[in-house]
Amino acid sequence: MEVVEIITLTVNGAQVECHNENLKLIRYLRDVLRLTSVKEGCGEGACGTCMVLVGGKPTRACVPTVAKVAGKSVVTAEGLSTREKEVYAHCFSAAGAVQCGFCIPAMLISAKGLLDQTPAPTRAKIKKAIRGNICRCTGYVKIEDAILMAAQYLREGLPLPSPDFSGKLGEDFYRVDAKEKTLGTGLFTDDMTIDGMVYAKALRSKYPRARVLGIDYSQAALHPDCIRVITAADVPGNIKCGHLVKDWDALIAVGGTTRYVGDAIAIAVTNSFDTLDEVLSLIRVEYEELTPLTSPAMALTEGAPHIHEGGNILSRQVLRRGDADTAITASKHVVTRHYSLPFTEHAFMEPECAIAMPQGGDGLLIYTGGQSIYDEMREISWLLGIPTGKIRVKSMLVGGGFGGKEDMSTQHHAALAAWLVKKPVKVRFSREESMKVHPKRHAMEIDFTTSCDENGIITAIKAKIVSDTGAYASLGGPVLQRACTHAGGPYNFGNVDITGFAVYTNNPPAGAFRGFGVSQSAFAMESNLNILAGMAGISPWEIRYRNAIRPGQVLPNGQIADESTALEECLLAVREAFERPAIAGIACGFKNAGLGVGVPDIGRCLLSVEKGRIHIRSSASCMGQGVATVLIQMVCETLNITPKFLVVEPPDTSRTPSSGTTTASRQTVFSGEAAVKAAKKLGAELNKGLAAGKTIEKSLEALENREFYGEYKPETDPMGCNIPFPVSHVSYGYAAQVAELDSQGKLKCVTAAYDIGTVVNPKAAQGQIEGGVVMGMGYALTEDFPLKDGYPQAKYGTLGLTRADNAPEIHTTFAARNERLPAAHGAKGVGELATIPTAPAIAGAYYKFDGVFRQKLPMENTYYKGDFQK
Ligand code: FES
Ligand code: FES
Repeated sequence: MEVVEIITLTVNGAQVECHNENLKLIRYLRDVLRLTSVKEGCGEGACGTCMVLVGGKPTRACVPTVAKVAGKSVVTAEGLSTREKEVYAHCFSAAGAVQCGFCIPAMLISAKGLLDQTPAPTRAKIKKAIRGNICRCTGYVKIEDAILMAAQYLREGLPLPSPDFSGKLGEDFYRVDAKEKTLGTGLFTDDMTIDGMVYAKALRSKYPRARVLGIDYSQAALHPDCIRVITAADVPGNIKCGHLVKDWDALIAVGGTTRYVGDAIAIAVTNSFDTLDEVLSLIRVEYEELTPLTSPAMALTEGAPHIHEGGNILSRQVLRRGDADTAITASKHVVTRHYSLPFTEHAFMEPECAIAMPQGGDGLLIYTGGQSIYDEMREISWLLGIPTGKIRVKSMLVGGGFGGKEDMSTQHHAALAAWLVKKPVKVRFSREESMKVHPKRHAMEIDFTTSCDENGIITAIKAKIVSDTGAYASLGGPVLQRACTHAGGPYNFGNVDITGFAVYTNNPPAGAFRGFGVSQSAFAMESNLNILAGMAGISPWEIRYRNAIRPGQVLPNGQIADESTALEECLLAVREAFERPAIAGIACGFKNAGLGVGVPDIGRCLLSVEKGRIHIRSSASCMGQGVATVLIQMVCETLNITPKFLVVEPPDTSRTPSSGTTTASRQTVFSGEAAVKAAKKLGAELNKGLAAGKTIEKSLEALENREFYGEYKPETDPMGCNIPFPVSHVSYGYAAQVAELDSQGKLKCVTAAYDIGTVVNPKAAQGQIEGGVVMGMGYALTEDFPLKDGYPQAKYGTLGLTRADNAPEIHTTFAARNERLPAAHGAKGVGELATIPTAPAIAGAYYKFDGVFRQKLPMENTYYKGDFQK
């Protein structure tokens, strides 16, 4: 008889026993003890979200087995003292250090590990202590601030303040979800278990391109833990998914051809998560391997096989205004360069997870962490062939998205499995599966010509943009559109000739990624400007200042800049940072809020009075940016009441109205304005009570159970329409950034000035910018998603993500004019704009540093890569 060794250890002060010595510590803590503050971000020892204290030392719980920590003391965020919890919750809230929150409980652990030894650490010491903890959202600045603040409270035993917030715009009101995210009590989907829950996982294609000749799962079905194996033949509805273009097979059928290595061939459903891989290994797939098309050039070769029925071009976009050829010929200075931009991985900290379960006999309830519950509801309805009314989707906390959680990943497979086996089913991606399956930022090849006159005034651009949209459409069409509509940058000139192609290949699909195509075309435009500045004999700041779009002028895409446009003010705000003796580069950027270009786009919000409080309902997904807090501040401002009267409900298709996808930096403007409109209606009723001398409490009592609905539905003009000055988008935010290198070529600091209109919550907006800058820095210098013949080569630890000790100082200012846009109290989006100018600003700094003009990202021969340090 096998003797089971019992491992004894102390967890959060209590002695516990484990009967499986080979169990990873993280699995024991999460699955057995249900200590879900310990997050699994990678399972590979690379991200730090599983950090716990073992014997007082920060340790990644995904690395050791339970046997390795036998007899030791383990502490998780749940095990901190009450005082520590209060201090950290306060300091992380006050510092604005929490965005998606997935990394934060582990940050507390690393902080505690440091502060227990070093009660008064320097910022440098803190950076070192948290260098094992990756945060993809914040840029680390505010996390370091929070730890510095916590150190002082703990060291000096200071009482914690209880701030009294007005909730008005411009106030650093604490995020409503900061405390639960800090302490790890908030639930992400994978933190949930449901009675009777089973597990499912897809078998992925062995080849990027291969015909599936047969699938034999007879042996898998015999596995004692296997409940069912699902193939395309089992799909009751429509097998093609896709929010905009239905071209993405939920499963590849026998006789079908795979398009990338993330394609699902079959789904195993098992009683235990641990047996999934074993069952999948018993499925035999017969393939006919075919040569993959691994670049747009290959896919556009005459006679190349068609990846999709309609051919290999997903989208062709043309933007022409004026006469670029004639203007370029007549110009004093002309520069033409080719730019190569890589695929990049979102690397959000929370891998995708969904739970689906039968509901009401003939319906499904799905818990997810995506970017739009309504998109998910529609996709699942389509896949299963049942009405949307039978499907309820609820959003749990979302551990980052950045565009990478817009498409179907786990939700549709969980729903399909739950529908077929009639049980709750969880599908959770490993980090490897996450990186293999979800769409990336588009790799682009860009030929870019820019011309100017003798004074450096831009006369024209001409560009050809080819994007690798990979195996499926995803958001590839609109991404290419934005790359084209924003290619001219935030400048005032009228001769534009841009042609773009999004090309299907057998690489992983590419889709939405913070910046949405603009990061790529802005890099080309801004880099060309640096050369033109030299030709015209003026500085990179001066050429931008002379050409910067001002209110009433016309953008290269034909839209007239509105009165709130404050790019000039942004440039003035960063002038000193650029002109002081320093190795500095500069770049500008602009980004739309909302889908624009004539696409229907609606923000919706419902306010209801329940038990004396106003409940705010919108389906706007918060993937870390803080939309719930924005909505509270919008309502407080409109109603002139304090946040204590408000509750924000999580997205739930059964109750919260559709407010569109969290994409295109749109939620602050669209859901924000919808909330304002609903609040105005509520306010009209509330004021009747107030005018009659009632208190707010009494006035709300009189409105018990009343509902007030707001909708924001602005019109925009389609791309290519025959209008002299089309309104492509409802608003644009603008930015200028200066990147400064030290004498070694290390990025020392970034000075950023942003025109985002009314700043709803300065600390939260700064946090967006700091996170965006660090993401842009990664794009410029270190991040890559290399592919070999269609196979991804990177692991999470080799993606080149920036860690705290390599993040630069970031100085942020907000520049604005007195004139404000009418919607959302004048707020404009910030999420994507935050990241756009960073890469070209750093490239400009390197050009100054060593005279090498870099046309490829991530840049080579820098402090961070290549031979530079030798
Ligand atoms: S989950 Fe342990 S380091 Fe990422
Ligand atoms: S807040 Fe750190 S990863 Fe999102």
